[in-house]
Amino acid sequence: MRLDVISIFPEYLAPLELSLIGKARQDGLLRLEVHNLRDFASDRHRTVDDTPYGGGAGMVMKPEPWALALEALLGRGGAADPEPGAKPVLIVPAPAGEVFTQRIAEELSAQDHLVFACGRYEGIDERVLDWAQEHFTVRPMSLGDYVLNGGEVAVLAMVEAIARLLPGVVGNPESLVEESHQDGLLEYPVYTKPSSWRGADVPETLLSGNHAKIARFRRDQQLLRTAARRPDLLRGLEVSGLNRADLEL
Ligand code: ADE
Repeated sequence: MRLDVISIFPEYLAPLELSLIGKARQDGLLRLEVHNLRDFASDRHRTVDDTPYGGGAGMVMKPEPWALALEALLGRGGAADPEPGAKPVLIVPAPAGEVFTQRIAEELSAQDHLVFACGRYEGIDERVLDWAQEHFTVRPMSLGDYVLNGGEVAVLAMVEAIARLLPGVVGNPESLVEESHQDGLLEYPVYTKPSSWRGADVPETLLSGNHAKIARFRRDQQLLRTAARRPDLLRGLEVSGLNRADLEL
């Protein structure tokens, strides 16, 4: 998979050189490049923003540096032999985007080429997103209902969520299976040694060695925890194993 990130703060993306993602890059499992938007500005001051038409607070990112930066990436797709007509996906982090979920991370992990356009200030001139649709599948994406200062932190989160799903990135692929959101539920609580700690005991079932009982216990814990913390996730699910009434839905 090829990943390109365009930002006016390329240093913000330095953590992508660390840990599992850094190792995956070294091992050639993904190719990730960070580009400075200011390299595509045309004036001496490398200006990338201007005042908004219609007035209002803050600044808006100018269209031309974005178009030049994105054009420079076209034709440099991820697959050696990309499907004819397959467009790279352009992800634009913004609080006004679609909410990024594990399902979307899975969907995007199957793509050959992802481009992340990090907006700052009040955002990018909307005409860039319209123009880009000819060359990219454009996906405005939000991490959640809160406002960050720019797209970089959101890109760190999204790249990590996507890249760890690529074959070979996470050492033990089984650890991907029993995670929060993988089956639409939150993960069950986990415990390690000692079995008794400051007066708190590990639930007895987990010490029983009875795998069927353990699986049942964990599933119940997933349902109870999801009902308590994220009842919205249960609404669309067929809940089996526990009575819906037990969950006070
Ligand atoms: N940029 C600013 N706020 C954001 C958010 N909530 N998600 C993604 N990108 C953002």
